[in-house]
Amino acid sequence: MTSKRVSIHGQWSSRVAFILAATGSAVGLGNIWKFPYITGENGGGTFVLVYLVCIALIGIPIMMAEILIGRRGRQSPINTMATLAHEEQRSRGWVALGWMGVIAGFLILSYYSVIAGWALSYVFRTASGAFIGVTADGVSSLFGALVSDPERLLAWHTIFLVMTMIVVSRGVKHGLESAVRYMMPALLFLLLMTVAYSMTTGHFMQGLAFLFTPGKITGQAILIAMGHAFFTLSLGMGAIMVYGSYLPRGMSITQATFMIAIADTVVALLAGMAIFPIVFANGLEPAAGPGLIFKTLPLAFGHMEAGTLVGTSFFILLVFAAWTSAISLIEPAVAWLVENWGLSRINAAVWVGIVTWLLGLGTIFSFNIWEDKTWSIPFLFENKNFFDTLDFLTANVMLPLGGLFIAIFAAWLMRDSSTRDELNTRETVYRLWHFLVKYVTPVAVIIVFLNVIGVIHLK
Ligand code: PHE
Repeated sequence: MTSKRVSIHGQWSSRVAFILAATGSAVGLGNIWKFPYITGENGGGTFVLVYLVCIALIGIPIMMAEILIGRRGRQSPINTMATLAHEEQRSRGWVALGWMGVIAGFLILSYYSVIAGWALSYVFRTASGAFIGVTADGVSSLFGALVSDPERLLAWHTIFLVMTMIVVSRGVKHGLESAVRYMMPALLFLLLMTVAYSMTTGHFMQGLAFLFTPGKITGQAILIAMGHAFFTLSLGMGAIMVYGSYLPRGMSITQATFMIAIADTVVALLAGMAIFPIVFANGLEPAAGPGLIFKTLPLAFGHMEAGTLVGTSFFILLVFAAWTSAISLIEPAVAWLVENWGLSRINAAVWVGIVTWLLGLGTIFSFNIWEDKTWSIPFLFENKNFFDTLDFLTANVMLPLGGLFIAIFAAWLMRDSSTRDELNTRETVYRLWHFLVKYVTPVAVIIVFLNVIGVIHLK
């Protein structure tokens, strides 16, 4: 049975358009801001290895599952799950998967926007020459001055959210396709220039060794690596599903997935190679936390040839990368508001923007007045403030859980004829995919969870 449904929100104009949009969603702060700092906090080598294994064995198969579910349902993730559950004669309770994704999207965007605001502020700082010839201490104190000022953070957070809502209200297709087409290669180029600078620091090999030499790892770190594989590929919350729902039939999901995953991984590894040599060359702390790139990259830009130009362009592109991810975070909610409430995209974007803006206050205060307000959840984590809790619960709990349920639905509950028809790929590829989503992915996610809560002892 072939699904003839069409999306009321339109379609991508071509396969390339879809790949660009999905890559735009995947490549973002996760690659350039988060990957280096969590790698630094979790000791490097082994963490990176676990992350890469998770991309290959969990991320790629789940991405294929999410795209195929989206394309078959052709609606917001909530309604897609309702339709497919009905079609496959499964419980209507599966809409909960769509809901969890919508909630995760709000929560992630609320802090994503604050961090993107930091990047925005750094565009102006770099352009004004604030980093020319600066020392490591100088960069750190400039960063400290920014995050300790809630009013400035609020202003940038507001600006970034307004930018996001403008694009969202116009529909993801317009503007987005061309933005990604030119911005992504440019970002890659500037990242390569920064890596080239890192090679001149005399600590390049030390940086590489940190990234790629295996060492010790904890159960928590394994969870964080797995969670990051979901986060960086935009999986487990419906972003890729909703983008899949705009994908015309007959386009290969397998090929697109590989291209997106490779582009995403390359950007993350390059970011690591750019940053760690600078960390070691300046005696900085790899475990500096969320401020890591803001304390290291300005050093590179402050000392390289044409650093003001390179640095300013770099932060502009980082903002663009964050922008194209942010719109996908909120697209599941917007599509649902349009479908079920009959709102125009503009109204939907305004409502979503208001809720996200309010939630973002928690993250803003986490870096200043609420910095020391921390709590613990038994078995899960200790002493995390608002931002750290939000990050942990979304990336390391909600996204992997979402992925687990997507795998179960696609491989165990959908008829083989439906998934085969939708994936429409070579038999060996189909079989391998089915095996991975049916057994490997669910088992891996469950083992990592059980390990963290101490039911089993892996590490
Ligand atoms: N993948 C994006 C990044 O790496 C973040 C994101 C997560 C976007 C989940 C959409 C959904 O920055």
